[in-house]
Amino acid sequence: MINKKNTITLVQISFWLNGTQKIMYIPPGMTTLELLNNKLSLTGTKSSCNEGDCGACTVVIGQKTGSEITYQAVNSCLYPAFRLHGKHLITVEGLAEKEELHPIQTAMLDEHSTQCGFCTPGFVMSMLGLFLNNINPNDEEILAALEGNLCRCTGYDSILKAAKKVKSRLKKGSELLPVNLKKVEVQFNECSPAFIFKEIENTEGWETRNCFIPQTLSELWDNIRSCKSTDTCKFISGGTDLMVLANIQHIHYTHLIDLSNLKELQKVKLDKSELNIGANVTMSQLMENNAVNEHFPILTEAFKQMASTQIRNSATLAGNIAHASPVADGATTLLAFDAGVILASSKAERKVKLKDFYKAYKKTELKTDEIIKSIAIPLPSEHKSYSGFIKSAKRKAVDISGVVSVIVIEYQDGKITRAVLSFGGVAPYPALAVKTMAFLKGKKIEEGWFEQAAEVAFNEFKPISDIRGHQSYRSILIKNHVLKHLADLFKEVHSVQKRSK
Ligand SMILES: Cc1cc2nc3c(=O)[nH]c(=O)nc-3n(C[C@H](O)[C@H](O)[C@H](O)COP(=O)(O)OP(=O)(O)OC[C@H]3O[C@@H](n4cnc5c(N)ncnc54)[C@H](O)[C@@H]3O)c2cc1C
Ligand code: FES
Ligand code: FES
Repeated sequence: MINKKNTITLVQISFWLNGTQKIMYIPPGMTTLELLNNKLSLTGTKSSCNEGDCGACTVVIGQKTGSEITYQAVNSCLYPAFRLHGKHLITVEGLAEKEELHPIQTAMLDEHSTQCGFCTPGFVMSMLGLFLNNINPNDEEILAALEGNLCRCTGYDSILKAAKKVKSRLKKGSELLPVNLKKVEVQFNECSPAFIFKEIENTEGWETRNCFIPQTLSELWDNIRSCKSTDTCKFISGGTDLMVLANIQHIHYTHLIDLSNLKELQKVKLDKSELNIGANVTMSQLMENNAVNEHFPILTEAFKQMASTQIRNSATLAGNIAHASPVADGATTLLAFDAGVILASSKAERKVKLKDFYKAYKKTELKTDEIIKSIAIPLPSEHKSYSGFIKSAKRKAVDISGVVSVIVIEYQDGKITRAVLSFGGVAPYPALAVKTMAFLKGKKIEEGWFEQAAEVAFNEFKPISDIRGHQSYRSILIKNHVLKHLADLFKEVHSVQKRSK
């Protein structure tokens, strides 16, 4: 039932906080950062940008995944507090044991990795997330774990040295969690997944006043039906777009429908013809997935250049597609692989190819009672193929693309038999460069016509000017992306030929 305007539905959550069980009623719109700073007086977790960019608010979440307990760093400013239900929230306050600092904190001190200290808890928690998953990370993995954290005074060198010091001190079987926190792992089984709701007067003026947390699709359809009377009902998956809109642009939906508990949406399935990715699968999970890495390594490459580890631990491809940003890296990549979305409502399911999904700026095929249930990507054909991903942004990490492009080429006897080229950031939504694709088909892969192809692409789009780049800059990027894709293709094809001689 939708509640009345002056009331709010509180959600009861039962979770562990640094080894101690807590049961609390919280408003649906509250973030984990707000819960920590304002309700629990735990101020070690810092609030700064409130939009996932700085990492100062990083915490580690432990949860039961199948038979395993997994730990992941997330941005608490974007993590809805109701998601803590049944999980273990670890903050910087939980690390030291009595007077003894945690090994990560000791390494930060030893390497003089902290000055004003504002960023330090975030870095410590990102390192904890890293080492809990991998006690022997290489330099690239250390950088990837820390690229979502900013420091404005110390400089990154001493922080990286601290991470390497932690690694050098860890041995196989090292225990990174203090005893008090480790003991929670045996209690995970005792947690009840059921949510309890309580309606009270909305005295604190929360904008999001109600949330549904369906556990099955049939519950979801009931929730959608009961929401139908309102147009401010919204689905939430990872929340990495939606929570930014709430925190920064103050765009709130009075009713949230959380999709993250739907087990039906959490699978990746591979069959003879396609890879089917459930809408709830996070980007981090996909980066670890064997089928993705085997058949679509470029998708993993795209993820590496998207956002940060903390964001990827929550963000989904379904959210990336449905948010319909013109510069969505995930959607642009999937478009080049001719992916489709499976749209589901209580009445039916239908498959829509991504090339037909976007209608206009922020307008998609999705009806209000439909969700993206999964994403289907046809497996590459048996032909020889090449694919490339290029992203132009101001920073290498945690930055939205100015222009992003993906090319997929199939070739035989040195000739292009099929070409797909997609762009983000040059049109109102991720789009195919159809004229350039037609130009490429049938061409022999040798130099001499690359400039012409770049010119066709240049003339194919009329990008707009905005904060991420002037129209003329973007047009030059289109050209340069095509030149780079073709040069890389040429290199790949000719090195393959040399190898096989
Ligand atoms: C710091 C930061 C950096 C980022 N960097 C990048 C980047 O480099 N590249 C990039 O492309 N994006 C980036 N993003 C944007 C964002 O992380 C992605 O778009 C992400 O994929 C969104 O997924 P989500 O699950 O978090 O979506 P949510 O925030 O949960 O939802 C986004 C939208 O999709 C809808 N939605 C979600 N799931 C479904 C579903 N199953 N069915 C129907 N509708 C649904 C929601 O209602 C909402 O409108 C960044 C975001 C942040 C905060
Ligand atoms: S406060 Fe900056 S990422 Fe959360
Ligand atoms: S030590 Fe001051 S921001 Fe990092």
